[in-house]
Formats: sequence, structure tokens, C-alpha cells
Amino acid sequence: MEDWISLGYLLSAALFIFGLKKLGHPRTAPFGNQLGALGMLVAVLTTILQMGLGDGIEWVLIGAGLVIGSLIGLWMAIRVEMTGMPELVALFNGFGGAASALVALSEIWRFIEGTSDHTQIEQLELTVIMVAAGLSALVGWMTLTGSILAMFKLKGGVSIFGKWIKTPTWGPVWLNPLKVMMVIAVAVLIYLSIDAPTNTDYLWGIIGISAVLGIVLVLPIGGADMPVVVSLLNSLSGIAAAFTGFIIGNSVLIVAGSLVGASGLILTFIMCKAMNRTLPDVLFKSFGGSGEKESLTRTKVGSDPDEVAMMLDGAQKVIIVPGYGMAVSQCQHQVKEFADLIAEKYDTEVKYAIHPVAGRMPGHMNVLLAEANVPYEQLIEMDEINPEFPDCDVALVIGANDTTNPAARSGEGPLAGMPIIDADAARTVVIVKRSLSVGYAGVDNDLFYMDKTMMLFGDGKAMMTGLNNAIKES
Ligand code: TAP
Repeated sequence: MEDWISLGYLLSAALFIFGLKKLGHPRTAPFGNQLGALGMLVAVLTTILQMGLGDGIEWVLIGAGLVIGSLIGLWMAIRVEMTGMPELVALFNGFGGAASALVALSEIWRFIEGTSDHTQIEQLELTVIMVAAGLSALVGWMTLTGSILAMFKLKGGVSIFGKWIKTPTWGPVWLNPLKVMMVIAVAVLIYLSIDAPTNTDYLWGIIGISAVLGIVLVLPIGGADMPVVVSLLNSLSGIAAAFTGFIIGNSVLIVAGSLVGASGLILTFIMCKAMNRTLPDVLFKSFGGSGEKESLTRTKVGSDPDEVAMMLDGAQKVIIVPGYGMAVSQCQHQVKEFADLIAEKYDTEVKYAIHPVAGRMPGHMNVLLAEANVPYEQLIEMDEINPEFPDCDVALVIGANDTTNPAARSGEGPLAGMPIIDADAARTVVIVKRSLSVGYAGVDNDLFYMDKTMMLFGDGKAMMTGLNNAIKES
């Protein structure tokens, strides 16, 4: 039986690794997801098999937990809008961290309750258990509170008794030494707990400080830097799981946790590069702005679909720049129809410019455009497409704002230093959005007011449908 259990864990670890590899390309990503889910199923079944070998297992409790948890997961996955995915991911990161910390806590609780005698454990092994449990608590509780705050920051606020309260962004400089002191305090408590595994004061101290640390870490981070934070929290939830794997001696938890931790960290650095930040900048400098929105004073007369269709006649090269507004209006199919229409009718070359943080989650635009069957070869990353804009007749910006905002080049404000799509270098710019209002970072966009820019004010889907009809009739 022991051999079957080892084999089950080995199989699930292999499925996680192959699944992750397949996630590297949009074409193979759905299969990668299925492999990962299968790996998790194998891991759960193997764990149940392993538990079956033990005595006094509360099968009803375990069964109820599995059923209730699965139903809640299913309900959330069905209910969530594509644009609400980042909030859900942030929440799941928090739950992952808390679950790991709770498992670690239950192991230590056995010493406190006396169901397991810590004096019978070798000193070295006890030290490893206490350090791993302390680190799991630090990372796990910090991930829970940080992720919940991150979720509300992504939402922009929280509704309490019908009153909308904006999520604050607050980070005076003195908060940084406080963060360091809190980490040191947790390290000291973990050290003290090694010689006193049953002392609950140390335990509650570690949990309390870690929970506050999560809030203090995320509170100063401004809106524009949220992608980095969410992916960092994702990585931390994996690290907490790996620590817990050490405590309960579960190899697949160590492997899965390490995979999440490492891949989350890689993604964090990719995000940092995309935003032109370093991780310490994001964590200690309150870089991404205060969350306040700039007030708008300028105006711009809007165009209509017929006018834009006429201008497009004869365009040799069009670059489509999708953003969050395309996700909100779900107009990716109309965008694909537009690309097909102008390619067929005007023999226009069409490409898509993909900014690494367009939308609200990594790969948001790729996922939506893949759903509309846009060929992958037409999706071009920012660094590669930017030199093509001076030769481009029309840049069609659909619901993108911050990722095209020239204010990012100025070196000041929440967007300072973030590389952008050079849509302003195209001969003509057409922007589809409902108003002149600001994007996620709250910064007014000079691109809207340029002479060569035509604004198509309206919902993305309605405007793209109107534009497609105008092209068909022209
Ligand atoms: P944003 O700057 O967020 O702007 C989106 C624009 O879409 C808004 O200005 C809005 O203008 C428009 N819009 C909303 N609903 C629309 C609709 N139904 N039809 C047409 N337009 C609509 O978008 P972006 O350029 O994609 O930039 C993304 C921002 O989100 C960045 O600041 C990034 O840092 C941040 N962020 C990204 C992520 C990841 S990982 N991608 C995660 C969290 C945050 P109107 O209201 O005028 O229509």
C-alpha cells in the first residue's frame, strides 16, 4: 500500500509539472489546466487512501468538507465575470495561505493539547517543525490579510450597508522600518517557540503580527502596481504550502507549493519589468499612486462610425490596441470581425499590440482574443510592435487607457516609468471608450486630445458593431 501512495504522489507531482509547462502557450494552456486539475484529483485521492491507513478518521467531516468546498468553488467559478477574475484569484491566494497556516497550526496544536508528546521528538526534528510552522504562519496569515485587502483594492472599495467606502492607499515612510521590525519580531518569536512548543502566547503573537503585516504591506501600494502585488501574494501562498508540506511530511504539498512559489515569483519579476519597477520599489516606495483620480477639465468632440469607416478605406496597416474596456464590453468577437472585414475589403494588414498589464490579469487580452479565434501570430508583444507604429496608418485603441498614456514617459505620477504602447506614433488614432474618463491609475490621457485622434464615444460592443456595419455599407 505504501508503494501505491508514493506512486500516487509522484504521478500528481508529474501532472503538476507537465500542466505548468503546457500553460506556457495559449494554445496548450487549456490542456495544461486540465492536467493540473487531474494532478490535484490524484493528490486528493492518494491522501484519502493514506488516511484510510490511520485510525479514528472522521470520514463524515472530511466528506462534508470536500463536498461543501467543491460546491462553493463551482458556484464561484460559474458566477464570476471574466473582469472579476483578478479579485477571485486574489481571494483564492488568501484562502491558500490561510489553509496552509491552519494545517501547520493543527500540527502544533497537538503538542499544546498533549495528543502528541514533543519531548519524544528529536531536538533537530522539533526545531525544523517549529521553524517551518512559524514561517508557514508568517507567510500564510500575511497572505490572507494582504490578499483580502488586495481584493478590495482591485474592486476599488467595499459596500457596507449600501454605503460605498473606497479602499484607502496610505503609506508614510515610517511604515517601512515598522515592517522590518515586525518581521524581526516574528523571527524572535519563532526562535523562542523552539524551546517552548506549547507556549500559546508565542503562537498568537506570530499569528497576530503576521496578519497585521499583510495589511501594512499592501496598504501603501497604489492602484497601478496591483498586478505585481497579486502575483507576489500568489507566490507567497505557494511558499506557505511548501512550509506546511515539510511539517506534515507530505511530498506533493512541498512540490506543488514550490511550483506555485517559484512560478509566482517569476511572474512577479515579469510584471515588475513590464511596469519598469523593482520589487523593493513596489514594496517600500508607495509607487503606484494614491488611488485619487485626476479631475478632467478638457473636452473633445466625438466622431461617428461612418466617419471612421471612411478614414479606414485605404489604410494599409492597422494596429488594434485592446485594453480593459474590451473585456468589460466583451467585444472581442466584434473586434475580430472588424479585423476580418478590413483585411478582406481594403486588403489591410492587421496586428494586435499586447501590453503585458492590459486588462486586470496577466494574459487577459490574449485569453479574450483567443476566445474570438484571433490567430496567435497576430498578437504582438509591446516591445516588438512599438517600432511599427510610425508606419501604421491607424491605431485602433479599444478600451485601453493607462497602457497608452504618454504621461508614463514624463517620469512623474502613478504611471511614471511604465512602458506604454506607442499608439500616439501612428498616423491616425481611433479610440473607442464611453467618455474621456481616466483609467485604472486615475491619470488624464493626452492621447485623447491630440489632433490626429478620433474619439468614438460609447460602449465597446455597440461602437464596434456600429463601425463594422458602417464598413459593410461603405
Ligand atoms: P485602463 O487604464 O483600466 O482603462 C480602461 C478603460 O476602459 C477606461 O478608461 C474606460 O473608459 C474604458 N471602458 C470601461 N468600460 C468600457 C466599455 N464598456 N466600453 C468601452 N470602454 C470601456 O485599461 P488598460 O489600458 O488595459 O490598463 C490596465 C490598467 O490596469 C493598468 O493601469 C494596470 O496596471 C492595471 N492592472 C492590471 C492588472 C493586470 S495583471 N493586467 C491587474 C490589476 C491592475 P470609459 O469609462 O470612458 O469607458
